[in-house]
Amino acid sequence: MKRTEIKTLLQDVEVGTKVNVKAWVRTKRGSKNVAFVALNDGSTIHNVQVVVDRDKFDDSILSKITTGASVSIDGEVVASQGSGQKIEVIANDIIVLGESDPEKYPLQPKKHSLEFLREIAHLRFRSNTFGAITRIRHSMIFAVHKFFTEEGFYNIHTPIITGSDAEGAGEMFRVSTFEPGNPPRTEDGKIDWKQDFFARETNLSVSGQLEVETACMAMGKVYTFGPTFRAENSNTTRHLSEFWMIEPEVAFADLEEDMDLAERFIKYLLQYALDHNQDDLEFLSKRLQEAEKGKKESERSMELIEKLKFVLDDSFERITYTEAFNILRNSKPNKKKKFQYLIENWGADLQSEHERYLVEKHFKKPVILTDYPADIKAFYMKQNEDGKTVRAMDVLFPQIGEIIGGSQREEDLEKLTQRMKAMDIPENEMWWYLDTRRFGTAVHSGFGLGFERLMLFVTGMGNIRDVIPFPRTPQNAEF
Ligand code: 4AD
Ligand code: MG
Repeated sequence: MKRTEIKTLLQDVEVGTKVNVKAWVRTKRGSKNVAFVALNDGSTIHNVQVVVDRDKFDDSILSKITTGASVSIDGEVVASQGSGQKIEVIANDIIVLGESDPEKYPLQPKKHSLEFLREIAHLRFRSNTFGAITRIRHSMIFAVHKFFTEEGFYNIHTPIITGSDAEGAGEMFRVSTFEPGNPPRTEDGKIDWKQDFFARETNLSVSGQLEVETACMAMGKVYTFGPTFRAENSNTTRHLSEFWMIEPEVAFADLEEDMDLAERFIKYLLQYALDHNQDDLEFLSKRLQEAEKGKKESERSMELIEKLKFVLDDSFERITYTEAFNILRNSKPNKKKKFQYLIENWGADLQSEHERYLVEKHFKKPVILTDYPADIKAFYMKQNEDGKTVRAMDVLFPQIGEIIGGSQREEDLEKLTQRMKAMDIPENEMWWYLDTRRFGTAVHSGFGLGFERLMLFVTGMGNIRDVIPFPRTPQNAEF
């Protein structure tokens, strides 16, 4: 018999139909005469309940139906007696495809902590929480491509191995085929990178922006969506060493248009989740509410679905860094020295405690900060007339802080190279990037959305390690 997936079974199959279900056992419970087996196959958060008449089956089969085992069950769809679901399946034939020793199987049919699930990342797809996150993650990936396709963008695969440091922060993973202990050396004893695989120093990319800018200067509207690597030693709930980033770049667009695009994009993704992932969002919402039961009313977060709708309903606040700086300097936590990093001198980088104060306490909605001090931003940003600030924009979200970083780009060759000199960025290695300014330069803008930061917001999860299948963080690359 042809297999029916559980999502289809629960939605579309009529009572009386004979079906085959192949899935993994979540739980088995029951009485002397019947066993109730809950099955899940990943197609939906919901399990299908299979009713097994103990008289009809050998004990040798029944005893192998344990949590984690894979089974193939033929049966008949009947109206459910219980309250949970409309239908259930009465088993006629059961094959245990793969046994699972209940003594050794790490996932018991009970609540496990997220920390524990991280230690068994290869099995956590089988938990309700991670199943829901995985389905939403897929949905968001699809929505990203759908949004840009509808807006007339082209997807560009930018390289993962690169010779340039796009962000100029120097936090890169080296790519080399040299023997670590014995690299070839030049006469003066330095490592001779000319003899390495690519005949130059190469690293994993921290951003596809520089390459995507070159495509933008011909194709008009482009985006890259790829893995991004940063070797910064940040052990926080919002940083990964390997994450996914979406970077659009638009020709003839200034910072205003860039911000409009960013806002439209995020809202599109949130609306898509609300429209297509309702069951999973409801599950995650309940999970979150349960997890926060012990907390005081004032410390609890907004209900998940309400929170997503809340962001959709209102436009993001747009203010300059300088305005934000003044708000923060005069804020209560700054005056009472509650911030870990006090706001004193103009020009200081904002920490996530400051970003969250602006979003969660002051404006109570997403905020886009613009016109940052040039010294804390990358070399490629458009310089303002004031000689101090650049046309940067960061989109700040509740709980997360920075979710998007972007800017209008410096299209003037001279100003750009001056800035590069000042920041010690080797011009000769960037000749191809500078060619975009030499030949038909134009105003253009873009940004980067951290995909896992978006996932944190959509799922309401608190730790970025729980929204990517196999997180890479300092000291951690198991699996
Ligand atoms: O602000 P960032 O560093 O900007 C860029 O890389 C630009 N080249 C983007 C552009 O203009 N095309 O990074 C962009 C976003 C951040 O706002 C954040 O959401 C995410 O990437 N991000 C991280 N996400 C997870 N772990 C990390 N270590 C991250 N670092 C940045
Ligand atoms: Mg940034």
